[in-house]
Amino acid sequence: MYKGKARAHTNIALIKYWGKANKEFILPMNNSLSLTLDAFYTETTVTFSEDLTKDTFYLDAVLQDERGTKKVSQFLDLVRSLARKDLFATVESQNFVPTAAGLASSASGLAALAGACNAALNLNLSEQDLSRLARRGSGSACRSIYGGFVEWEKGHDDATSFAKVIPSNQWEDDLAMIFILINDQQKDVSSRDGMERTVATSVFYDGWLKTSPLDLQTAKEAIAEKDFEKLGVVTETNGLKMHGTTLGATPPFTYWSADSLKAMNRVREIRQLGIPCYFTMDAGPNVKVLCQKKDAAEILAQLETTFSKDQLTCAYSGPGLEYLETDVKA
Ligand code: ADP
Ligand code: DP6
Repeated sequence: MYKGKARAHTNIALIKYWGKANKEFILPMNNSLSLTLDAFYTETTVTFSEDLTKDTFYLDAVLQDERGTKKVSQFLDLVRSLARKDLFATVESQNFVPTAAGLASSASGLAALAGACNAALNLNLSEQDLSRLARRGSGSACRSIYGGFVEWEKGHDDATSFAKVIPSNQWEDDLAMIFILINDQQKDVSSRDGMERTVATSVFYDGWLKTSPLDLQTAKEAIAEKDFEKLGVVTETNGLKMHGTTLGATPPFTYWSADSLKAMNRVREIRQLGIPCYFTMDAGPNVKVLCQKKDAAEILAQLETTFSKDQLTCAYSGPGLEYLETDVKA
């Protein structure tokens, strides 16, 4: 029996990954940049054993059906071929983040699974190789191997597409991200399906591709200069552009709800009061507000006039992949 356990935190992209150049290897169309966060994470234990006759996946202690197990099982196939071990596995995972609600459970989930497999089978993968492996499970997961500001370099093949830390002199410790939870139910269009439809059909996708490299450069400059407004402006613009592409798809779709718009407007109002804060959204209706740590309490107080306290979570910069003790040693 080979057992391993790992914890990975979610990350939220400030410059989004939106579109695949290669579906099999999950190579992205553009580089992306994210902040790993402390408030939301996944813990996963994997046990490979000669006694098992199929892969089994428990998410939050609930046995998943064949459909729910498919992504995990396909990922385990990659690990089995890497390790040259033909063993089925039991995966037990706990999400300390709502699943499939646009809060990046796929990032923390697949990064934790990659880490657990690395530990269980003593693969001794470098962080770069772990990032490449996690990427095969879910693109954004390659960024959750690292803490703080992270860039996923799109590369041009399996070997060259991985994430790395962006030097920042710990500036991330001065920042915060407030999550406005609009809806924690599973979304109708997954990120995977949404980006595929957009690349294939959106009349706005060209605009996305043409401008995202400059957005990335601006964000990296802002981090180097510790220029919060510059980072905030480019984060908000880039996120809006990503969501713009979905309206130009066939059939068109949007991840926004009426309450998402309400949240975005509140952020603009708070900004007009002179408190710098900027929003971003992923493949779901929830809104994330990038701000400086010193302003977080005031922004939360402002948001509480519109949203209930239990809809609001304040997150700070989080760590990279962590290995945890299992009850039984391999
Ligand atoms: P999200 O916005 O939460 O990332 P996605 O639709 O992109 O939503 O991804 C959700 C999918 O990620 C789930 O349906 C499941 O396949 C996978 N996933 C989520 N959590 C885990 C986990 N802890 N372990 C393995 N896979 C997970
Ligand atoms: C909008 O990483 O969930 O959150 O690679 O198909 O698993 P797959 O997609 P996923 O997409 C994330 C999209 C996003 C933007 C981002 O995180 O960069």
